[in-house]
Amino acid sequence: MRIAVIGTGYVGLVSGACFSEFGVNVTCVDNDAAKIARLVKGEMPIYEPGLGQLVATNAAAGRLHFTTDLATAVAGADAVFIAVGTPSRRGDGHADLSYVYTAAREIAAALDGFTVVITKSTVPVGTGDEVERIIRETRPDAKVAVVSNPEFLREGAAIQDFKHPDRIVVGTNDPRAKEVMTELYRPLYLNAAPMLYSDRRTAELIKYAANAFLATKITFINEIADLCEKVGADVQQVARGIGLDNRIGAKFLHAGPGFGGSCFPKDTVALIKTGQDHAAPLRIVETVAAVNDTRKRAMARKIANALGNTVRGKTIALLGLTFKPNTDDMREAPSIPLITALYDMGAKVRAYDPAGMAHAKELLPDVAYCDDPYACAEGADALVIVTEWEQFRALDLDRLRRAMTRPVIIDLRNVYRPEEMVKHGFIYEGIGRLVTVQD
Ligand SMILES: NC(=O)c1ccc[n+]([C@@H]2O[C@H](COP(=O)([O-])OP(=O)(O)OC[C@H]3O[C@@H](n4cnc5c(N)ncnc54)[C@H](O)[C@@H]3O)[C@@H](O)[C@H]2O)c1
Repeated sequence: MRIAVIGTGYVGLVSGACFSEFGVNVTCVDNDAAKIARLVKGEMPIYEPGLGQLVATNAAAGRLHFTTDLATAVAGADAVFIAVGTPSRRGDGHADLSYVYTAAREIAAALDGFTVVITKSTVPVGTGDEVERIIRETRPDAKVAVVSNPEFLREGAAIQDFKHPDRIVVGTNDPRAKEVMTELYRPLYLNAAPMLYSDRRTAELIKYAANAFLATKITFINEIADLCEKVGADVQQVARGIGLDNRIGAKFLHAGPGFGGSCFPKDTVALIKTGQDHAAPLRIVETVAAVNDTRKRAMARKIANALGNTVRGKTIALLGLTFKPNTDDMREAPSIPLITALYDMGAKVRAYDPAGMAHAKELLPDVAYCDDPYACAEGADALVIVTEWEQFRALDLDRLRRAMTRPVIIDLRNVYRPEEMVKHGFIYEGIGRLVTVQD
């Protein structure tokens, strides 16, 4: 089988590389010529663990190709995946579908023989209908089936997630398309990943409902964390206590600075808009988005509180800038509004991140970027753990304290145990736990 994948971002590149690993002949297409040039040279345009090796192996085996020539890639394909971006539309928060529709038009013009066109991008209910309409308008003679196949992989664990998904959702009523999709995903199906077939609109909604539910879980535990701080309880134990209940589940119950990233923020807002447009408002999701929005700046106030209610003229060192570990993705990272708020309050900011600093420098040019955690801590009045990278879990605490002007740590990810930090002479504050102070 031959497939084309349009868009070589986090989803398109990982999906294309994984399908080629299954033995499918894959051509990855992007209209960003610089990105394709790097991929052809074997350089990865994104940071994703294991991706470089996977791409190199399959490209060398002749199963994985990169091009800017969409027409040729589509003409020779049995199936074409659309994996372009669907960011928030400026102004109203609806999903911006212009990239999807442009891709649909370009694909339509190039179709040759029966082709399954699959939307892997996260798109609002009804987008598949519009993609099909565009294709039929552009090419009334096209033999095509338009399928929804949303992707659930997580950045930082994308290859593992793609190869071992909890489920594969396929939205189509076309029996030929179903056959092609079943064939494509057969290696995963054999690994016991359930295939869930539905109509196209249902598949589209499953993706948004899943992301909104996970965002709700995070926001719920974040508010419980705030209450824990007020009443003297420990959110880690509350999360464990409720997470052990199988009906609730332990995942996505880690209190922190609020969710960010390339998906949850835009997908919750897009779902809210869909609900409003159909007179079926999603009040819970509306609240989740609003609560999460205010939380990130609130983290700056938390830092100020730990420093006697002001950060003016003080140096704040941030460890971690990306929205989660193991990615270089800075989209909607909580660090951005946090740093902006710290600047508004008159602080100086230093930062270190293992993979995100190149992107961060474009967004936050005034930050003093450092080469490692200890250089970052140099002269700091407070050190803030913003992203829970592995390398921040076992820091040399004595070295860190010696580098700092004041031994104050605000751990927005609850990486450390309060007792341990006090033992090393720190004033330590986590999220939703009792505040511990030096004896
Ligand atoms: N990033 C994630 O973790 C994740 C997870 C699940 C689903 N999704 C969804 O998958 C989609 C893609 O997300 P992403 O993070 O991979 O995006 P991305 O921005 O990293 O990549 C999109 C790519 O598409 C290319 N592109 C845009 N229009 C094109 C066109 N007409 N022809 C060829 N290439 C074109 C861009 O140049 C870019 O390289 C989004 O809808 C997103 O919501 C993302």
